[in-house]
Amino acid sequence: MRLALVGFGKMGHMLAEAAKIRGHEIVCTVDIQASDATCVTNDPAVMVDAVRKSGAEAVIEFSHPSSALANINALVATGLPLVVGTTGWLDSLDSIRVQVEKSGSALLHSANYSVGVNLFYRIVSDAARLMAEFENYDVALFESHHNQKADSPSGTGLELARRVMEGMPGKKRLVTDAFDRRPEPDELHLASVRIGSVPGTHTVWFDSAADTIELTHTARNREGLALGAVRATEWLSAPDSRGKRKVGVFTMNDVFDSL
Ligand SMILES: NC(=O)c1ccc[n+]([C@@H]2O[C@H](COP(=O)([O-])OP(=O)(O)OC[C@H]3O[C@@H](n4cnc5c(N)ncnc54)[C@H](O)[C@@H]3O)[C@@H](O)[C@H]2O)c1
Repeated sequence: MRLALVGFGKMGHMLAEAAKIRGHEIVCTVDIQASDATCVTNDPAVMVDAVRKSGAEAVIEFSHPSSALANINALVATGLPLVVGTTGWLDSLDSIRVQVEKSGSALLHSANYSVGVNLFYRIVSDAARLMAEFENYDVALFESHHNQKADSPSGTGLELARRVMEGMPGKKRLVTDAFDRRPEPDELHLASVRIGSVPGTHTVWFDSAADTIELTHTARNREGLALGAVRATEWLSAPDSRGKRKVGVFTMNDVFDSL
């Protein structure tokens, strides 16, 4: 496939590597400042022009939360399958969805493209459902990340907590602060630590008086994220089960549901 990358920073460069490994060609890279990008601009119209002229068949966007919405608006109009890694624009998802459907295009977004994390989501959902049948097990979550991470808890931690609560209906309220009292039985604790260079670790504990079951995903680097975003692009660009071009807004759940 011929691919365009919008945002040619750390992830953009990793995406280029991952795409080449999977046999794709990078025909266009757009950035507001990267000197090795094929198009350096902060004008969405110029970006779209460069993408169109490159003959790209799909676009992957990993730029900056402040520019994601403008980029998405401009790129959706091209009708090309669009995979978005940048976060911070989901408040506008409804209006983007309308635009995607109007232009007959396809957009896929995820807060975490790692194949391993998405498998871990499924494992945790299954485990939570199973553990809910044994009322003597309590559950809690823990996540650690490098000290450059701006937000806490991680989006991945929140998604894991959502899945635990979905599977264990006894847990109804998420607590992400430190406890200065005993937790209530219906509270689910998600604790965060920021330290050094940790790329991202997420643990779910199921604990009884007799034992602990500990499920942990440990990221070693960002390669899994880039590979997952490229696989998502392949999925989005492929016809659906009826042989039709995909139209609409999708997430990594759709990719994994179809495997
Ligand atoms: N969803 C995921 O799985 C996932 C994984 C990693 C990173 N991210 C997100 O992806 C984004 C990029 O991450 P990164 O580590 O590559 O950051 P980075 O700072 O290394 O690179 C971002 C690049 O985007 C460029 N940029 C900024 N505004 C732009 C615009 N309007 N048009 C084109 N390029 C623009 C910057 O100049 C920079 O080169 C961040 O928002 C990050 O949170 C998401």
